[in-house]
Amino acid sequence: MVRALATAFLFALSLAAQDPTLTDDKIPKENPFTTPADVKRGQHLFQGHCAPCHGPAGEGSRGPSLARPRLPRAPDEQSLFKLLRNGIEGTEMPGAWVMIDKEIWQTAAFVRTLGRTAVESLPGDRARGEAVFRGKGKCAGCHSVTGQGGRTGPDLTEVGTRRSASYLRRKLVDPTGDLPEGFLQVTVATKEGRRITGIRLNEDTYSLQLRDLSDRPHSFWKTDLKQIQKDWGKTPMPGYRGVLTDSEMEDVVAYLASLRGVS
Ligand code: HEC
Ligand code: HEC
Repeated sequence: MVRALATAFLFALSLAAQDPTLTDDKIPKENPFTTPADVKRGQHLFQGHCAPCHGPAGEGSRGPSLARPRLPRAPDEQSLFKLLRNGIEGTEMPGAWVMIDKEIWQTAAFVRTLGRTAVESLPGDRARGEAVFRGKGKCAGCHSVTGQGGRTGPDLTEVGTRRSASYLRRKLVDPTGDLPEGFLQVTVATKEGRRITGIRLNEDTYSLQLRDLSDRPHSFWKTDLKQIQKDWGKTPMPGYRGVLTDSEMEDVVAYLASLRGVS
């Protein structure tokens, strides 16, 4: 018995050793596939796998603009390769599991050509945008930046690295247009007749946790609830067309695009 276990263990180890993916120290420092034909193939792959989130010219959409001379998360070729292969854990950036290494390099070669195009310049004024964010727009009531503000909406400390200006602009005009994966607003009615609307934090077969719009967490047994209404496609974030002027919106976009984390 012990021997059988030991054999199984050694077998598992040998399988692990045969893992075909490159370990980090074996990834070349420079991209081995950068001929014009590679870049062309990379462009093709990019259109299929990446453009839905980063835009056909890498101008950004749901994912950040890649048309920048420096990518903060991929300063060199090795880190770009790793990022494309593995994705960014805990974010919507997926790993390119379906691509072979050569295809990842070709895509990376194309991504680097994007950075040589002009950097997007924004018309808005950052400082005025911050004033609108804290004042007239009441954004800070729901969003925090570097630790200060509400928690109904996501922390925006790094939103400028995550989202493009065009996405941010759209978000202000039509917040329901492009909700994050897994985001769900729910309204529950308890058997005692209370109704609570909030954002789902967690749910399993028996229980549901949510945070209401005043930031209070709640946990319910489903047997105590009369109704669970799932508002897919809804968000508590209001639209700002008609509330802010066009130039105030541009200022807010410039402010958000400048939020790149604490350095
Ligand atoms: C489902 C949407 C989605 C897809 C598909 C996607 N990305 Fe992303 N990508 C994102 C998001 C969102 C981020 C920002 C993640 C974060 O930091 O929160 C990101 C980040 C990145 C970054 C880091 C940029 C920086 O600021 O350093 C690179 C590079 C990148 N993506 C390249 C690609 C490439 C190339 C592909 C195709 C193989 C791809 N992405 C596919 C959503 C996506
Ligand atoms: C009543 C609360 C509330 C207010 C007020 C509010 N938001 Fe939001 N916001 C949310 C919630 C909740 C989400 C997450 C769901 C979604 O994407 O709509 C969100 C999402 C966002 C996102 C997307 C973040 C990401 O990572 O994709 C941005 C950007 C944003 N808000 C900016 C703003 C700005 C700027 C203002 C003010 C002009 C504002 N919000 C006002 C609740 C709010």
